Amino acid sequence: MANTILVGAQWGDEGKGKIIDVLTEQADVVVRYAGGNNAGHTVWVGKQKYVLHLIPSGILRKNKLCVIGNGVVIDPLGLVNEITGLKKLGVKVGQNLVISETAHVVFPYHRELDAQREVLKGKNKIGTTKRGIGPAYGDKVARVGLRMSDLVDPARLEAKLSARIKESNSVLKALGAKPISLKQVLADYTAAGKFLKPFVTNTVVLLHDAMNRGAEMLFEGAQGTFLDIDHGTYPYVTSSNTTAGGACTGSGVPPHRMDRVVGVMKAYTTRVGEGPLPTENKEISDLLHGMGREFGATTGRARRCGWFDSVATRHATMVNGIDDLAITNLDGLDTVDTIKVCIAYRHGKKRYDYMPSDAKILAECEPIYAEFEGWKTPTEKCKSWKELPPKARAYAKAIAELTGAKLYIASVGPGREQTIFV
Ligand code: GDP
Ligand code: IMO
Ligand code: MG
Repeated sequence: MANTILVGAQWGDEGKGKIIDVLTEQADVVVRYAGGNNAGHTVWVGKQKYVLHLIPSGILRKNKLCVIGNGVVIDPLGLVNEITGLKKLGVKVGQNLVISETAHVVFPYHRELDAQREVLKGKNKIGTTKRGIGPAYGDKVARVGLRMSDLVDPARLEAKLSARIKESNSVLKALGAKPISLKQVLADYTAAGKFLKPFVTNTVVLLHDAMNRGAEMLFEGAQGTFLDIDHGTYPYVTSSNTTAGGACTGSGVPPHRMDRVVGVMKAYTTRVGEGPLPTENKEISDLLHGMGREFGATTGRARRCGWFDSVATRHATMVNGIDDLAITNLDGLDTVDTIKVCIAYRHGKKRYDYMPSDAKILAECEPIYAEFEGWKTPTEKCKSWKELPPKARAYAKAIAELTGAKLYIASVGPGREQTIFV
């Protein structure tokens, strides 16, 4: 398998957790490189459902090393909860998890600022997860953030936190929000630092040692291509590089050591939060929500749904260098008579065959659709490519071709066994 980067080719929630879990069987190391606990990656093992927010989805397999890389922002209280929650379910979390000492820390003032900025934006709000992700990355870039190495050193934590809380409280006060108590935060974060200290290390050196011993690595992307801070539908994005390049900067593994990029995409489109979604459609939203599907794994919000948008996924192939595609939720279209696929956009008199980078223009674009006949047969029990209805195969092949990468996996249910290698 060599070193593989796995990215979401749409707006997040493509089923990355499920596909990572399947591919982890052949890997030695799984690395999260971007985002924070805004991510929610669902994995079903038999009848047990797990939702991973910060810990790589590889944690559910035995003898795999899981790494939270330097590009991730970590809410330590959330991480402690995630570790103890997994342990309660019988999952081993010990030496199989390591955390970068240079990953930045999310504090309560980041969450508060996140919430306040959303209020200030009013109807232009982003619809963030309110996990403090934007302000935490903001502090990192402004060079005033605290890193995991600060968290696990109580004296350093107190000194740096006092200064940060002073500044943050003056901003919060100006916004009319409640100030943060240094005493409480210090107590909570010192305890979390003590708990997490055994996991914290120089992950760059560790990853290179593992590579030099021949370990095969899987880089678990969070969010999706169009939530990327540079390549997404700005400002309706998250605050990190979620695309394939982020795997290098967010882990310290250089580009020439990366062998393959796998893109994960749903057989239709979803998005949580605000921002343009050209193929958004009530019929397919009602259908999927009616089946109890497409509610967010982190915030529980109903996801907005639409037809498959190949203009977007083609762009994702370009930006990420996607080699192989995993198409998930093919079974979500089992009952649809006529399936639409967006092949280009119309904006006034102009036809776009690529995604315009301006969110305002994208929001005004009308999709131009091709139509496919539905297969109208349940697929969730199909075990092989040949068992899939011919019309489902034709659809999967067509959207892969329009996306411009090789069809590798077709997924027909959340379970491990509902995975078809093409
Ligand atoms: P992620 O953030 O990309 O890991 O995706 P999420 O876990 O947020 O959302 C994907 C949802 O789809 C989860 O509930 C998965 O269990 C589910 N899922 C993944 N693949 C399939 C599939 O092929 N069919 C069905 N029915 N559900 C799937
Ligand atoms: P996974 O890894 C879907 C969205 C939020 C919001 C925007 C910014 O599970 O695919 P943020 O809290 O990051 O500042 O929110 O990004 N968002 C996601 N949408 N899946 C995710 O992660 C997301 N992480 C953030 O809904 O629109
Ligand atoms: Mg998710």
